Amino acid sequence: MKLVKWFLLWTLAGCSTIEESKQAIALYSEPFRPQFHYTPPAHWMNDPNGMVYLDGEYHLFYQHNPNDKVWGPMHWGHAVSNDMIHWEDLPIALYPDSLGTIFSGSAVYDANNTSGLGSPGQSPLVAIYTNHDGAAAEKGTDDFQTQSIAYSTDKGRTWTKYAHNPVLPNPGIRDFRDPKVHWHEATQQWIMALAVQDVIHFYSSPNLIDWELKSTFGKNIGAKGGVWECPDLFPIQDPNGQDRYALLVSINPGGPNMGSATQYFLGDFDGRLFTPIDSTIRWLDYGPDNYAGVTWSNIPDSDGRRLFLGWMSNWQYANATPTHPWRSAMTLPRAMEWVRAEGLHLLASKPVAELKKLRTSRPVKAEKNQRTSTGTGTFELVAQKGKVQSITIGNHQDERVVVRIADENITIDRSQAGISDFHQEFARSLSAPLDGIQVDKLQVFVDHSSVEVFVNEGQIVLTARVFPNEPYQWVTIQGTEGMVYPLKAVF
Ligand code: FRU
Repeated sequence: MKLVKWFLLWTLAGCSTIEESKQAIALYSEPFRPQFHYTPPAHWMNDPNGMVYLDGEYHLFYQHNPNDKVWGPMHWGHAVSNDMIHWEDLPIALYPDSLGTIFSGSAVYDANNTSGLGSPGQSPLVAIYTNHDGAAAEKGTDDFQTQSIAYSTDKGRTWTKYAHNPVLPNPGIRDFRDPKVHWHEATQQWIMALAVQDVIHFYSSPNLIDWELKSTFGKNIGAKGGVWECPDLFPIQDPNGQDRYALLVSINPGGPNMGSATQYFLGDFDGRLFTPIDSTIRWLDYGPDNYAGVTWSNIPDSDGRRLFLGWMSNWQYANATPTHPWRSAMTLPRAMEWVRAEGLHLLASKPVAELKKLRTSRPVKAEKNQRTSTGTGTFELVAQKGKVQSITIGNHQDERVVVRIADENITIDRSQAGISDFHQEFARSLSAPLDGIQVDKLQVFVDHSSVEVFVNEGQIVLTARVFPNEPYQWVTIQGTEGMVYPLKAVF
């Protein structure tokens, strides 16, 4: 019997040896380990980096300390996927060097070999990242962050650092990092968005090597409660089908619900200047646990989506969350769209359609005002009829997360969700204003230690980590009914 069980788990796990499958099962049995979000097998992870799509593979690099489960000397960890949900871990891509450790950055496919770093018939992937010289920082200098590049001609499996790094030296500014590069079709040049204290610098380059400062954005606009980090400037169509631009800017601290968060601007970019449509402050996600997120480059036109992933944590408590031997997870992959609602311009981010693959064949109806068993701690809940007053998600120890709609706000209350003593600010209620938006659809993903709430296909989003002592096993929807879809694990 035992053998049959192992065999079944082994085949289900898609592993090629029994040993591999045992390892995967052990890994995914660790307390709080999400079952369908990306997590590092071990040790520390923060920002997603270098997200680029090539030949059927989504690449995810990430800030990684391979020696400890707290932040430390940064490397780029690496994983690939063909659907943004099932990931294969690959060896570390970039190691610290004489210029410093490897902070956040991006990667592009240099199709026309503008950099000359490829060879005939072999266009390179080029990673553009920040070198952080920690020793120089400690000595009190200001110019310890510089921008460097590395390239790969074997689909990201091995990387060579450019011989004449850095490509963008530091002009004497302490916070000077996180280059995000894209190809600006109209002016036929590369554009880099760089976080510089609490503004964004835009640089241009013909070849990813020689960079020229074009403009500065953000002097008197946007949330300013902390340092600006991890920008992402990308083309997007507005609701009228016009080609325009969005700019994501992460900020730490100064988020709407404490600590770090990501704001965004909508507008136009002409190859030099970014011009926002207005001076409204907008948040990509009102929950406390979606930071430093950026979008994939080189997604084929035939797909056409703008795909996003964030780091599902918050600098306030990221180093103290109660997981072992790994720390941190990424958010669900999300597709972004510029939409209008109640006269507002919004960058909606909704869970990608690929996630439907995780649904098992047996959804359960959650009757109005009744406790419904979810069967598992990993599920999706959809309520799209009538008026939701609240959704309570709980376990048999009566630990619970409550999503509430009241007083023109949507709130996630995690004050009784489980373990919270690792940080005094963790056990709190987290709110987003509805701004007149009527909640027609509420979609909630629960994955052991995370809750992601999407209102009306991502017009309003709240992402929060939770650490229940046992997985949540039931839900109660007050006010209306819904469907619960148990979700499969990805291993
Ligand atoms: C954002 C950030 C980046 C930096 C990286 C260091 O979370 O602070 O600005 O490059 O993390 O790990």
